[in-house]
Amino acid sequence: FIELILIMSHLVSIISIMVLFRYTDGVKWKFLEHKGPVFAPPYEPLPSNVKFYYDGKHMKLSPEAEEVATFFAKMLDHEYTTKDIFRKNFFKDWRKEMTAEEKSIITDLKKCNFTEMSEYFKAQSEARKAMTKEQKQKIKAENERLLQEYGFCIMDNHKERIANFRIEPPGLFRGRGDHPKMGMLKRRIRPQDIIINCSKCVKSCDVAGFLQNQGREFIAPAFNDPSCVQGEKDWQKYETARRLKKCVDRLRAQYREDWKSKEMRIRQRAVALYFIDKLALRAGNEKEEGETADTVGCCSLRVEHLKLYPENEGQEFVVEFDFLGKDSIRYYNRVPVEKRVFKNLQLFMENKEPDDDLFDRLNTSILNKHLQELMDGLTAKVFRTYNASITLQQQLKELTTADDNIPAKILSYNRANRAVAILCNHQRAPPKTFEKSMQNLQAKIDAKKDQLSDAKRELKSAKADAKVRRDEKSKKAVETKRKAVQRIEEQLMKLEVQATDREENKQIALGTSKLNYLDPRISVAWCKKWGVPIEKIYNKTQREKFAWAIDMADEDYEF
Ligand SMILES: *[C@@H]1O[C@H](CO)[C@@H](O)[C@H](O)[C@H]1NC(C)=O
Ligand SMILES: *[C@@H]1O[C@H](CO)[C@@H](O)[C@H](O)[C@H]1NC(C)=O
Ligand SMILES: *[C@@H]1O[C@H](CO)[C@@H](O)[C@H](O)[C@H]1NC(C)=O
Ligand SMILES: *[C@@H]1O[C@H](CO)[C@@H](O)[C@H](O)[C@H]1NC(C)=O
Ligand SMILES: *[C@@H]1O[C@H](CO)[C@@H](O)[C@H](O)[C@H]1NC(C)=O
Repeated sequence: FIELILIMSHLVSIISIMVLFRYTDGVKWKFLEHKGPVFAPPYEPLPSNVKFYYDGKHMKLSPEAEEVATFFAKMLDHEYTTKDIFRKNFFKDWRKEMTAEEKSIITDLKKCNFTEMSEYFKAQSEARKAMTKEQKQKIKAENERLLQEYGFCIMDNHKERIANFRIEPPGLFRGRGDHPKMGMLKRRIRPQDIIINCSKCVKSCDVAGFLQNQGREFIAPAFNDPSCVQGEKDWQKYETARRLKKCVDRLRAQYREDWKSKEMRIRQRAVALYFIDKLALRAGNEKEEGETADTVGCCSLRVEHLKLYPENEGQEFVVEFDFLGKDSIRYYNRVPVEKRVFKNLQLFMENKEPDDDLFDRLNTSILNKHLQELMDGLTAKVFRTYNASITLQQQLKELTTADDNIPAKILSYNRANRAVAILCNHQRAPPKTFEKSMQNLQAKIDAKKDQLSDAKRELKSAKADAKVRRDEKSKKAVETKRKAVQRIEEQLMKLEVQATDREENKQIALGTSKLNYLDPRISVAWCKKWGVPIEKIYNKTQREKFAWAIDMADEDYEF
C-alpha cells in the first residue's frame, strides 16, 4: 500500500526509512521519493610526516586503526581524554580496528604518543580559520548544492524540506557527566549498513536522529512542516479543480442536453447544475450544527427565492435570486439565463406555493451522487474552487501591467482577488472602524500633500539659489531637494493606492476566497513572475498554510 521509491546515490541494499510524524493514525503519504542521506566524506590518511609513536618508537598504523586514533588525537586537549571510562572504552573499541600485529604491540594507551597528530589537526583548524573569502564561498556553495540535492523529498507531489539529511561522521561518543559509553567508537556508517524499513509509519517520535542503534538505523527525518498533511489535502483539492477544468466542457454539453430531458428529475438536476456552475452556488444542506436560520443552497431553493423576468423587447431572460445563503449572508443577484433554463424554471414553478421547493425532484444527496458519476471527487464546491481559481488567473493576466511599481501591482492583485470574492458572494458589512480608519488615512494623505508642496517650494528656491551662486555646494543642495521631492511623491502614491484599495474593499471579504478557493500556486507564480514579495500577498499564517505551493510553483504555473 505504500509506494516507496528511493533513489540512492550509492548502492545500498536496505535502508531504514522511518518517517516520523506527529500526526494521528492512518496513512499519511502514498508516495515518497528521496535521494537518501549524505554520507560522511571518506577518511583521508595522514601525511607521512605526521607520526604516531608507541613507547617512544615510530609506528605506522593501518588506515583503519589510524582513523580511530585520529579521533582521539583531535580530542587530546579535552578533559575527556583524561577520564578513565573514556580511555577504557576508547581503547577497547580502538583495538577492535587494529590488525593482529598492531594489537599485539599496542597494549597500553599510556604508551601512545598522539602529539604530532594533535598538532597537525590544530594547524589544519587554524588554516580553516584563515581561509580566504573565495575559499569560504566555495564551501558554502557546495553545501548549498548538497542541500538542494538531498535536503528535499517529494512526498505525494509536494516538495518537503528534510530537517537532517547528513549522516553523522564517525567519531568518539562523548556523552555528558559520567556516561558509561563515553569514548566508545561511533563507527562510520556505510551504505551497506543502512536498512530501508518500509513498515508502517512510526507515530509520534520527537526527534529524528540518524544514530539509532549505534548508527545502524537511518531514520528519515521528520518533515519540517507540521502542516504537510493539511498541505496535501489542499493540494488534492486544487488538483481536483484542475481535473474539472479538463472535463468541464463535456459536463456543460451534457447538462445542456439534459435540459430537454423527458424526465423531470433529470431536467431539475441539469438546471441546478447550471446554477452551481454559473453562479458558484452551494449545493445546499451545508448548515452548521445547531444553525437554525432559514438558509438555503441550490437544491433547497424555494419558489419565493426567485423572480422571473421574461424577455421583452429583445431583452434577455433574467432571473432574480434573493435568499439567505451560508452564514445567513444574503445572496442577491440578477442574472441573464438561457431561454431553455428560463422555460424550465417556469415549468418547475407552475402551480406551486411560494414556500414550495423549486426542485421537488432533487435533493443534495441526489445531486452529489450525480456529480460523483460525472467526475471522481466532484462536488459543488469543486465548481467554486475551479471558477474562483480560473477567474483569479484570468484577472491577474488582464490587470497586471509590467511597468507598474510594486504598490500598483498589489492593487491589481487585490482587484483580481475582489473579482473572485464578488463571484463567490463573500460580502461583509463594512467594518465598524472603516470610517475612522479611512479618515486617518485621508489625514495622512493630506499631511503628505502638504509635505510635498513644502518640498517642492524648497526645491524651487534651491534652484534659484544655485543659479546665482553657481557653486558645487548649491548644486548638491538642488540634488538633495530633488530626491526629497521624489521620495515624498512615492510615499504619497503609496498612501493613495492604499486608500483606493481600502475603499474598494469596504464590503468584500477577501480572506475566505484566498484561504479556501484560490489555488495558491497561481498567486505564488504571479509573485515570482512580477517580483512581488510573497509577504505582500500572504501573511505569516497563510505562508505556512501554503508552504507547499510556495515551494512548488514556478512563475510559469498554469492552473
Ligand atoms: C611525543 O612526541 C613528540 C613529538 O614527536 C615529542 O616531542 C614528545 O616528547 C613525545 N612525548 C612523550 C611523552 O614521549
Ligand atoms: C522497522 O521499523 C519497525 C517500526 O519501528 C521496527 O519494529 C522493526 O524492527 C524495523 N525493522 C528493521 C529491519 O529494522
Ligand atoms: C465563473 O462564474 C462566472 C459568474 O457566474 C461566469 O460568468 C463564468 O463563466 C464562470 N467562469 C468559468 C470559467 O466557469
Ligand atoms: C433524497 O431523495 C432520495 C430519492 O427521493 C431519497 O431516497 C433520500 O432519502 C433523499 N435524501 C435526503 C437527505 O433527503
Ligand atoms: C493572517 O490573515 C488571516 C486572515 O486571512 C488572519 O486570520 C490571521 O490572523 C493573519 N495572521 C497574521 C499572523 O497576521
